[in-house]
Amino acid sequence: MRGRHKAWAVPYLEEHPDICLKTIDETDPFFACEKLYLEIGIGKGDFIVGMSKKLDGNFLGLERERSIIGMAAKKIEAESLPNVKVMAEDFDFVYEQLSKLRFDAIFLNFSDPWPKKRHAKRRLTTSGRLKAMGALLKEGGRILIKTDNDILYAFTMEEIPSCGLELVDATDHYEFDESNDVMSEYERNFRGQGKNIHRIELRKGA
Ligand SMILES: C[S@@+](CC[C@H](N)C(=O)[O-])C[C@H]1O[C@@H](n2cnc3c(N)ncnc32)[C@H](O)[C@@H]1O
Repeated sequence: MRGRHKAWAVPYLEEHPDICLKTIDETDPFFACEKLYLEIGIGKGDFIVGMSKKLDGNFLGLERERSIIGMAAKKIEAESLPNVKVMAEDFDFVYEQLSKLRFDAIFLNFSDPWPKKRHAKRRLTTSGRLKAMGALLKEGGRILIKTDNDILYAFTMEEIPSCGLELVDATDHYEFDESNDVMSEYERNFRGQGKNIHRIELRKGA
């Protein structure tokens, strides 16, 4: 997702350290919550905002594009959501800090597909990155992946056997589950175009 540059975003994020964290302090009571969730690549934040109202627990969202995460942070402020914080960071670069935390679930919604084969290593669902995400999960914790992209779906399915996580469910025709799920901006747009949505659920074994 490449958003138009928004000059206000960087100062806005700086002025809201309560919403946009610069570093992870694992002693922060926010992270001591019984249920803790991570979304990687939150875009404009529709999913994390909606999910934070649906599930008990605290949510951390990562997004590497500052102009885009600025829009998510504004929604979090507008709705006064104490259980959502974000970081303007790339997963790979912030991983060491994240490894101080353990999550109940990690959400990947419509991650960049990097459809060219030579860019496959950039995909968020390489077995190496899934394994790294698995290390951030509590026992029994889950990774929930949604995508419209056939290449990313097939690639992810091939990466799973070597990532050390159990495949709970995979479908290339995911029917939206209103009571347990929230649509991100991309999901809403793709469904509006009549596109098929794929979903994969992984679990860290006990
Ligand atoms: C295609 S958009 C989808 C946005 C949103 N999840 C949705 O479904 O509407 C993917 C987003 O993930 C972000 N992203 C991609 N790789 C990332 C990474 N390694 N760490 C953090 N954010 C990332 C991109 O900047 C982009 O905003």
